[in-house]
Amino acid sequence: MTRLFYEKFVPADPMLAPIFANMSADHPQRVAKWLGEVFGGPPYYSQEYGGYPRMISEHAGKCLTDEWRARWVSLLMQSAQEAGLPNDPEFRSAFGSYIEWGSRLAVENSQIASRPPADMPMPSWGWNTTAGPPGGRVSALAQRADEEAQLVVLPAADEPVRFEKHIKAQFRSRDRQAMTFVFDLWSYDDVRDHADAILARLRNGSMPCDGAWPAERIDVFQRWVDEGTNA
Ligand code: HEM
Repeated sequence: MTRLFYEKFVPADPMLAPIFANMSADHPQRVAKWLGEVFGGPPYYSQEYGGYPRMISEHAGKCLTDEWRARWVSLLMQSAQEAGLPNDPEFRSAFGSYIEWGSRLAVENSQIASRPPADMPMPSWGWNTTAGPPGGRVSALAQRADEEAQLVVLPAADEPVRFEKHIKAQFRSRDRQAMTFVFDLWSYDDVRDHADAILARLRNGSMPCDGAWPAERIDVFQRWVDEGTNA
């Protein structure tokens, strides 16, 4: 089922194909092992890939949307049908309830502001399992008391813009976490090397994905580039 999904349905879908364009070749097997373990099979995902923390880190910062999620679920169900998974009401009730629950958690945990609980056990689903009552789980999007205070010092008009003082401080740890798969936003070398791409994303509002910077902050980044990206 997961091979049909990731190797046939996803690449043919214009909405989902780009999201999975860089997935590892064994992604179908990884997700199959996750699902198998959730449904009481051997604990291969925990043993081979790192269980819940690995799964969380793979969705973190991806800013998945509910529109993508709905397509993901719909194509997964088509894959289940084509792969010949049992089609009886009871089997599909358990399978579908986990997929609806898990895919919503994937969206929740992928937002920039998300703070998923650390080190949770693997979910476990059976014939009589449900996700529990609404409100019985602390949302990963709940505001935490320890939210980092944001201290942004903008340079005076005649002051040279410096990475350490004016640029690095503008990136929150959640921004950094979201981008670790490409570069480190707290590294001078990385930000200098990718400055044009970062500026383009700041200007078109696609980064950070939880809210664009105000123009005055983007202008400071532009000044830093224009002045020669001082350390
Ligand atoms: C029940 C729902 C879901 C399950 C069980 C699931 C499972 C997983 C697992 C196990 C991984 C990590 C694989 C590894 O160890 O490398 C992963 C990664 C990923 N998932 Fe999900 N996922 C779900 C929902 C979604 C949804 C709804 C989306 C997007 C629409 C999504 C997008 C991704 C992406 C983009 C990756 C990283 C792929 C890569 O580039 O390597 N997932 N998922």
